[in-house]
Amino acid sequence: TVFADGNSSAKIMLIGEAPGAEEDKIGKPFVGLAGKLLDKMLAAINLDRTKVYISNVIPWRPPGNRAPDNEEILQCMPFIQKHIELIQPLILILLGGTASKAILTTNIGITKLRGSWHNYSSLGLNKSILTRAIFHPAFLLRSPEHKKETWQDLLEIKKKITENENF
Ligand code: URA
Repeated sequence: TVFADGNSSAKIMLIGEAPGAEEDKIGKPFVGLAGKLLDKMLAAINLDRTKVYISNVIPWRPPGNRAPDNEEILQCMPFIQKHIELIQPLILILLGGTASKAILTTNIGITKLRGSWHNYSSLGLNKSILTRAIFHPAFLLRSPEHKKETWQDLLEIKKKITENENF
């Protein structure tokens, strides 16, 4: 089971899809190649794992590294919802299409979801959480031409952090 990494008091929570082979071995999210890129993306806006909290929609590696199916996602949703309620971040960053669609309960793809702010709410939260969907670092490794848009998203996130005196 890959539960989480980072600082549980952090004001920023990142949510990925599901562990890969490396994560499955080590028991921490984003420790493989995509994780290395994620750490660089965070560093670009002065963040690191002492300042963020990281988890996944699914805490187990799907067999053969396939994408989790809708039934698996729905089964795990109550856990990640509760996880968000316990952390109560000020900003939620959703990594890739699977996490973005699941958490924002939409069929809209990541290409349309990225680039603007969304609000995440649930029954256990007393106010909604500012949410940004960005391309998954594994996708950026395959399609580096999309790093440009992701840099814009990261700058927007940095701007929100700088503007908000609660950080
Ligand atoms: N990809 C994810 O979505 N999560 C991880 O933890 C690792 C790779």
